[in-house]
Formats: sequence, structure tokens, C-alpha cells
Amino acid sequence: MAMQEQAIAWRQAGEEVGLVPTMGALHAGHDSLVTRARRENQRVIVSIFVNPAQFGPNEDFARYPRPFEADRARLEALGVDAIFHPPVDQIYPPAFKTRVEAGPLGEVLEGKSRPGHFNGVLTVVLKLFLLTQPKRAYFGQKDFQQLVLVRQMVRDFALPIRIVAVPTVREPDGLAISSRNAYLAPAEREAAPAIYRALDVAAKGFGGGLADPVELEDTVRHLLEGTPGVAIDYVAVVDEITLRRPARTGPGNVLAVAVKLGTIRLIDNVVLGAERL
Ligand code: PAF
Repeated sequence: MAMQEQAIAWRQAGEEVGLVPTMGALHAGHDSLVTRARRENQRVIVSIFVNPAQFGPNEDFARYPRPFEADRARLEALGVDAIFHPPVDQIYPPAFKTRVEAGPLGEVLEGKSRPGHFNGVLTVVLKLFLLTQPKRAYFGQKDFQQLVLVRQMVRDFALPIRIVAVPTVREPDGLAISSRNAYLAPAEREAAPAIYRALDVAAKGFGGGLADPVELEDTVRHLLEGTPGVAIDYVAVVDEITLRRPARTGPGNVLAVAVKLGTIRLIDNVVLGAERL
């Protein structure tokens, strides 16, 4: 049965669907999304689709890893009900014309370095939602801006879907797990935990009463500037809905960073005032 028909049949039978949208190359971060979805829904669909619309012309679309058989085995072990792995022309057939425009929230932070990226993300996420009919959809906190934009789209279009944010999974040394970590050279991998260490120092500063967003940003910037091989793209304290810098930092605001280690761009963030594992 085609994905959308199957999803509608589950819905009509009163079974709630949880969707975990992914681009494959699954790792422990995805496992935690799937495990959470498995706990909260009768049916779990994981989509695996490397979405060409969210890659810029100089980005790694062609090189993006596609280890489908390993992904399938991993998802079967986690007990998902369906893996939705459409070919590109099922999502974007030749007659496809309409696109979602992310608007101003898509132009800051990641959007500044990756113009058009979030238009591509929202376009595919909306289509995946319609094809899989989820009651809940699961996104990692690591891609914080993506989460904010998906939530905004859900509100703007009154989509009857609950967006569930799942905490970032980290290596024992604090590095946020990402499929791009595999591309780090040994010296870059050694430097990478400095990102979370710096975020952690600032988060503790916030816990200790430091509420000036610029001072929090400077704390991270100074620590990262002292780390060889790390080039900062941005360090920003932002409101978790508007993505603007607050006048005074409050609990729930997010401290986000993007850095380059060699050619590899890594992002990470912490929710200020939230408990971290
Ligand atoms: O986070 C990702 O893997 C992708 O941006 C998503 C949400 C699957 C859309 O292609």
C-alpha cells in the first residue's frame, strides 16, 4: 500500500502515527527520536529522504551518506512500523511547482550562511506530513532553528500535528552527535568538544545569575577563540520563538553556536535554565 493510503488507514482505525523525518545515515541521535516516538504512538513512521531542496549549490548533497541497508536494519531493531524512503521524483515530480517560504525566521543564524535552506526544509516537511498523516512529529533539539521554523509553520497553517523536541544526544566528551562528525580529521575531532564545553560554561554562568545576552555570547566566543582550528560563524542568545536576541536572558532562551572546523560546519546549542544530562 502506498504510504499516504497506509497512514490514512491507520488514522481511520484510530491508531496515532508518530513521524520521525530523517535524511538517513542514522545514529544515536535518531535512535532517541524513534524511541520516543515508539513510546508515544501506536504507529511509527521514519522517513529517509535526502532532500535536494535544502542543499545549497556548494553543499554536500551528492556526497551525503546514504547507507540505506544499515539504516533499515537499525530501524527494524527499533521496531518501527514503516520506513518511508521515496525516490526524489515522488517528492518532487516534474510538475511540482509550489514551495513553502520560511520568511524572516529562515534568514537569520543558519539561514544567513545557508540561503534558501529552510525553504527547502519546510517544503519537504510539509509534504512528508501530508504523506504520513502524523499526530506527532519528532525533531532533534540540536537543529534548533529547524525546530523553531517547523513549529512556526504548524501554527501558521494550523496543522493538527504536535511537534515534539527531543534533547540532543552527546558523545561522552560532550560533542553533539551528528552525521558530519565522521568527516572530522583527528585533530578537528579532538578540538570539537570545546564547543559544548563553552556552551556549558555560559549556561552555568546563566544559572549563576549572568543575564546579559552579550556577556553570555562573549563567554562562549572567548573560549572558542582560544581553541586552535575553530572558526566561529555565530554565537547567539535568542528567544526560542522569535529568534531575536532578548534584552535580558530568561529561562527557555537558547544559546546557539555554529563553527567551522576545517571544512566541516558544526552547530550546537543549549536551552538556558533547562536541566541537561
Ligand atoms: O533534520 C533533518 O534531517 C532534515 O532537515 C529533515 C527534517 C529530515 C528534512 O529534510
